[in-house]
Amino acid sequence: MVICPGEGTPDFLRPNQGYLFKVASGWQAQQLWCEVIAYELSLVVGVSVPPAFVALDSSSGEPGALIELFYPYPAAMRTVRLAHAADYMHKNFADGKKGRPHALRENLAICRALNAPNPLEWWAKAILFDTLIGNTDRHSENWGFLVEGTQDARQFTLAPLYDNGTSLGYGTTDAKLANPWDARRMAAYLARGHHDIGWSKNEDGPTQHLPFCVRFFTAHPELKGTAATMLSFTDQQVEEIVQWATEFFVPIMFTSDRARFILKQIGARRDALKEALEL
Ligand SMILES: Nc1ncnc2c1ncn2[C@@H]1O[C@H](COP(=O)(O)OP(=O)(O)OP(=O)(O)O)[C@@H](O)[C@H]1O
Ligand SMILES: [Mg+2]
Repeated sequence: MVICPGEGTPDFLRPNQGYLFKVASGWQAQQLWCEVIAYELSLVVGVSVPPAFVALDSSSGEPGALIELFYPYPAAMRTVRLAHAADYMHKNFADGKKGRPHALRENLAICRALNAPNPLEWWAKAILFDTLIGNTDRHSENWGFLVEGTQDARQFTLAPLYDNGTSLGYGTTDAKLANPWDARRMAAYLARGHHDIGWSKNEDGPTQHLPFCVRFFTAHPELKGTAATMLSFTDQQVEEIVQWATEFFVPIMFTSDRARFILKQIGARRDALKEALEL
């Protein structure tokens, strides 16, 4: 954790606020950019994600993602904390299978038991966002609740979507991106993407991104308007984000080949979702 200086900082940082400085290396290094692009995309599609920026450790030169904590800390008295969903799930987990089953129906039941507001809408947005960015890692410690109040009167709200780096084809090497992918290659690649969650404990995940969304919005057609709004962005909006990312000179560069790859990925996922959900 690092703490922002009280003055002299860029206006997109909060003075005296705590941030995570999250480092990824080796074949996972591109997760840095995936965190940043996922945040920028969240602003376009209207999903709550903690602000994420590319940053350098000035003492070592090491790059990392600077991620704003959900709550004012340490400047204010800390009355809010994050609780991982897993904290409320231990009795669900089968012996020897850490973290599984992990499925939507049971997740919703926990949200309702804790009286968290609007869990169905939150999950609708979460599975659409994870499908758009191809996130495969929404396990039970990568979503959770902001908990406020005293022992006797606790309030739970679903936290912004954090830990979005395992996405956007981060493990695809530069060599594989040198030539543009045609639509067939991209479609075959996207079909392999999956959510961590399953549908229910009897149909445990991981589950393919697109079929999962189809099943969800078929079961909850009243949320299709939310999906249509989220998916109404243009290629140009994504292009602006990826183009901007290529302009940073940091030890982990975001290349123009990767910009093209991610632009195509997000566009292809948006179009596939719109078609499958009949939006
Ligand atoms: N914006 C935030 N505010 C407060 N706490 C956060 C925030 N983002 C993440 N955390 C906490 O920090 C932990 C690690 O962050 P994150 O999940 O992004 O990193 P990670 O390296 O993928 O960790 P893991 O491998 O354990 O999933 C999270 O499990 C969560 O408890
Ligand atoms: Mg995590």
